Amino acid sequence: MSDPVGSVVDVVAETAPEIRGGLAGRRVYGSEENPSGERKLAADVYADDLLEERLLALDAVGSYASEERDAVVTADGGGALHVACDPLDGSSNLKSNNAMGTLFGVYDEPLPAPGSALIASGFVLFGPITTMVTARGGTVREWVLDDDRDLVDDDLRLPEEPMVYGFGGRVPRWTEAFADYVTEVEAELKLRYGGAMIGDVTQVLTYGGIFGYPGLRDRPEGKLRLLFEGHPIAHVVETAGGASSDGERSLLDIEPDRLHERTPLFVGDETYIERLESALG
Ligand code: AHG
Ligand code: MN
Ligand code: MN
Repeated sequence: MSDPVGSVVDVVAETAPEIRGGLAGRRVYGSEENPSGERKLAADVYADDLLEERLLALDAVGSYASEERDAVVTADGGGALHVACDPLDGSSNLKSNNAMGTLFGVYDEPLPAPGSALIASGFVLFGPITTMVTARGGTVREWVLDDDRDLVDDDLRLPEEPMVYGFGGRVPRWTEAFADYVTEVEAELKLRYGGAMIGDVTQVLTYGGIFGYPGLRDRPEGKLRLLFEGHPIAHVVETAGGASSDGERSLLDIEPDRLHERTPLFVGDETYIERLESALG
């Protein structure tokens, strides 16, 4: 196979229109919960089943894991690539008809793997148009996925001048140190928070700034999953010239103990990440 990682990116791109096409009729919650204890939307299950089937059909893919599944699914073929997906990120935005999308990370070690084993990452954003962003080989690229795939940026870089910020979690649950940091940030940047990480991070990739979901007073590990959200989005933003952190270090330096481990998550402009780490330090 000439380009095994490229075959994974191709499958995600080719599956995206089917996922988007299946959203309208799947806005209802089933009775099942995912391993993070969140109720599964019918669209979560649909996207997850499509991606598992298509990705495991590739010889290059040895296993598939997602935030919707308890355990890693291992293929018989013994492929060298291990793919971790958030099949639908921001799925609570489906009822309110707002942005959401699919996240993927391609590792060359079995899952759960350290961020250093991430060899490619990316996401599909179901916004007014469908776009895909990938990070591999030190470059971030962006495509418009319409009838076919049009490359619109072959070297996407985080803007030098930060403009927007967005932080999740209810304000009374923020720690004092984080709340003090946000008081500074909100005096400098514009608020952009839409409830789907990849929609909000795309604001940061487009306009510059910072996105985060902090550790909370009563939940210091925060809400977002390291393997399915933290690693891939950190890989994209760091490859685009930005930085990531859990409040202390790059998210890619974290080696997960558990598949569904949560982490505080911050990505964006290096200066704001540095200021965050000293504020929380
Ligand atoms: P998912 O739909 O995959 O569970 O992800 C939702 C995540 C993330 O996309 C977003 O940043 C965050 O949850 C929003 O959380 P709140 O609803 O608490 O703002
Ligand atoms: Mn998510
Ligand atoms: Mn999800």
